[in-house]
Amino acid sequence: MADRQTDWASLGIDVTKPSIARTYDVVLRGKDNFEVDRAFVDEIVKVVPEIYDVATYNREVLGRGVRYLAGEAGIRQFLDLGSGLPTVQNTHHVAQATDPSCRVVYVDNDPIVLAHGRALLAENDRTGVVTADLREPEAILAAPEVRRLIDFSQPVGVMMVGILHHLHDDEGPQRIVDTFMDAVPSGSHLFVTHFCASSEESRDAEQKYLALLGTGRFRTPEEITAYFDGLELLEPGVVPLPLWRPDGPAPTDLSVGQRLMFGGIARKP
Ligand SMILES: C[S@@+](CC[C@H](N)C(=O)[O-])C[C@H]1O[C@@H](n2cnc3c(N)ncnc32)[C@H](O)[C@@H]1O
Repeated sequence: MADRQTDWASLGIDVTKPSIARTYDVVLRGKDNFEVDRAFVDEIVKVVPEIYDVATYNREVLGRGVRYLAGEAGIRQFLDLGSGLPTVQNTHHVAQATDPSCRVVYVDNDPIVLAHGRALLAENDRTGVVTADLREPEAILAAPEVRRLIDFSQPVGVMMVGILHHLHDDEGPQRIVDTFMDAVPSGSHLFVTHFCASSEESRDAEQKYLALLGTGRFRTPEEITAYFDGLELLEPGVVPLPLWRPDGPAPTDLSVGQRLMFGGIARKP
């Protein structure tokens, strides 16, 4: 076990503290996580028993959103910021199912994504993985793999799915969003999903995230909507994830879990 931990340490992976990517892997019922990550999720389950379902709503809307972007919106290149560990129906699977020429760059700052994800995510020469920090948008925009795969004269799908709530207010999430949207041309789209301050339980969950993981800022629907300022917000706007263009009938009487994350897509005019 000690040797095993030394191996992880040499990859830059700290198994003594929960990581965002690995705790998300827990709720997606993946295998790339450690005891400390599962213990964190056990604490969240105490305030939001549906947290595993919330991860599913997020993955499902990611699929619907990318299908829309690659389909109706005609986007052929995607910058997936905070991509997470590979799971089912990753962005390039969905986009390339619509058009195999779609190009995707995955960006994440967790070394576990590099350790486990590179081979799976960079499956073909139209996908790439970059280890970088969202808080340094200029470095991401200048990264050679980003420059190889993304043509900044053509519309880009900028994805910040399940990541902006991991930025504190003083880290300037709006500036970061604006930096990416300023770098892409008209016709580009911004896709955001975000933990929402939508119930008493969400306030409790926020406290647990901040205390145990160090990040997790649950913003109001108005704060999340403000990320899209200056862009054309597409119907149905910024809504609880199960209400964003559901494949079947829209659910009614949403539960705490169904309201825990909000999201939307907007087009740059
Ligand atoms: C909840 S996961 C979301 C994964 C995927 N986008 C999805 O929605 O299914 C958030 C991801 O953002 C990454 N992340 C958090 N803060 C980051 C930062 N400052 N820079 C880059 N990646 C970050 C985490 O490592 C994690 O993999």
